[in-house]
Amino acid sequence: MTSKSVIRETTPGDIAQVLALYPQAFPEEELRPVVSTLLKEGPEVLSLAAFDGNALVAHVLFTICGTEEWDRTGALLAPLGVIPLLQRRGLGSSLVRAGLERLERRGIKQVFVLGDPAYYQRFGFSPERQVLAPYPIPEEWVDAWRSMTLAAGEPLAAGRLLLPEPWMEPALWGP
Ligand SMILES: CC(C)(COP(=O)(O)OP(=O)(O)OC[C@H]1O[C@@H](n2cnc3c(N)ncnc32)[C@H](O)[C@@H]1OP(=O)(O)O)[C@@H](O)C(=O)NCCC(=O)NCCS
Repeated sequence: MTSKSVIRETTPGDIAQVLALYPQAFPEEELRPVVSTLLKEGPEVLSLAAFDGNALVAHVLFTICGTEEWDRTGALLAPLGVIPLLQRRGLGSSLVRAGLERLERRGIKQVFVLGDPAYYQRFGFSPERQVLAPYPIPEEWVDAWRSMTLAAGEPLAAGRLLLPEPWMEPALWGP
């Protein structure tokens, strides 16, 4: 975390800066459509960003989800991005931790991620076998599908994770 950064939930006025961040953090992936739709069209999300003054320098999105229609006590962490100049200074970790705290206060029980095991294990994410991703995870990524149970929570019922429509795109779940 840089000394100047402040973390807060994003507002509609921040969307342009959020969308400008992702091509910098992920030059080879196109995440703007899914992020834009989730931020503009109202599925329940938690969108947090770190700002240096007015400049958005890091962002994380959590999408509320569950394995059964009526149970919306899970969240998917994706994506997470930090501008290249400020990577490896704790911004990503601070955003993840701030998000987990807020989700816990909202009654979320379990958080899922498809991401680098070496990075996400530091927060307590471990390999997930009971709850399946919306699409089969390629064999070489199987260890990257992870979850953690928040302090107050029980794990969700086993099954396939039910996510809002913007996530129902196989390309978002494979190489
Ligand atoms: C990955 C990313 C979100 C991490 O955020 P960050 O603010 O740069 O990283 P932090 O300062 O929180 O954490 C730094 C630690 O994570 C490690 N780390 C950083 N990026 C990593 C990665 N892609 N894989 C594994 N470890 C990573 C660093 O080695 C460092 O470890 P250390 O504390 O043991 O020295 C950020 O670097 C980024 O946006 N990268 C490009 C996009 C990307 O790959 N996102 C993946 C998330 S789905």
